[in-house]
Amino acid sequence: MAKYKIAVLPGDGVGNDVMDAARIVLDRLDLNAEYTYGDIGWEFWKSEGDPLPRRTIQMLKETDCYLFGAITSKPKEEAARELLPELQDKGYTYFSPIVRLRQEFNLRTNLRPCKAYPGNPLNYRDDIDLVVFRENTEGLYSGVEFHPVPEKLMQTLLGLHPKAKKFGKVPQEDLALSCRIFTRQACQNIVRDAFEYAKKHGYKTVTVVEKPNVIRETSGLMVREARKIAEEYPGIDLWETNIDAMCMWLVKNPQDYGVLVSSNMFGDIISDLCAQLVGGLGFACSGNIGDDYAVFEPTHGSAPKYAGQYKVNPTAMILSVKLMLDWLGEKEKASFLEKAVGRVIEEGKVRTYDVGGTNTSIEVAEGVAAVL
Ligand code: IPM
Ligand code: MG
Repeated sequence: MAKYKIAVLPGDGVGNDVMDAARIVLDRLDLNAEYTYGDIGWEFWKSEGDPLPRRTIQMLKETDCYLFGAITSKPKEEAARELLPELQDKGYTYFSPIVRLRQEFNLRTNLRPCKAYPGNPLNYRDDIDLVVFRENTEGLYSGVEFHPVPEKLMQTLLGLHPKAKKFGKVPQEDLALSCRIFTRQACQNIVRDAFEYAKKHGYKTVTVVEKPNVIRETSGLMVREARKIAEEYPGIDLWETNIDAMCMWLVKNPQDYGVLVSSNMFGDIISDLCAQLVGGLGFACSGNIGDDYAVFEPTHGSAPKYAGQYKVNPTAMILSVKLMLDWLGEKEKASFLEKAVGRVIEEGKVRTYDVGGTNTSIEVAEGVAAVL
């Protein structure tokens, strides 16, 4: 029996392309693993009204972790229009499968390293080494949303909060509400994970990126918990920066920062900014990590217009495999893989279009495999 059971769900769009590339590298690494493929993505939304069928969740439960490619996500109305005619108007609502997975498997930590590999012509600067810790299960992604806002809820808000008055006369239909829910536990967990990572990897600072001057209760809770936890890590400084200023500082002096920690929505935003500083989404990997399960995926989306062309940069997917190897405890293989990726980037002989080359995703993966 293989040592690891790994689910491989390419998803749709370029998810398949980058997953084929990742398999080349995985096969070369000769990991003692059994790979199981499963159904997920847009196709299953259209034909079954569920992009993440129950059978897939069941299958995932029988594996150690899961490698994910990419999935097309569309707003509610657009998604509903693409359902098969017999499924239309039956009450199916599209929810992003990756967000659901993060919640159902309690993958509470989203880890997103953004490192400028030497020789990458797309580096904004060559001395950037950022790691984003994004809270992954709550905040604005909690899914507690209303439109229209029920009368009962409006009355409760009016009774409890003076600032609700401004909205009291707005017709229910004209009011939408998305709740930004933070728990103390989740704030503590994500900050602690960030500090632990900083300690283990020698980063000198952890920057909490929120907006407590305006969003007093949720951002405030995160920052207050961060201050307490920081006391347990004497060698590491806690910096506090507002999300808007952080976007500016990251463009001005990205080299000054190390580990960043944020809530779900702000973490989503700074992840893309940090990715662009080191070459764009083609280089941005991520791990969604829980206590006993994890999903590894590139930060990029499914880019449907490039699907099947093997054109997109598979580096983000390959580096996500590296994060998976780390998580599985395969430190040596992880480190070989990262070195091989670094070497291919530095030599610059095989490059996809985003880096100014003409090679395919497969050729880049073969380039990495050849160094391994
Ligand atoms: C990400 C993506 C997802 C998110 C989308 C696809 C739902 O942007 O992983 O950063 O918002 O979390
Ligand atoms: Mg995102």
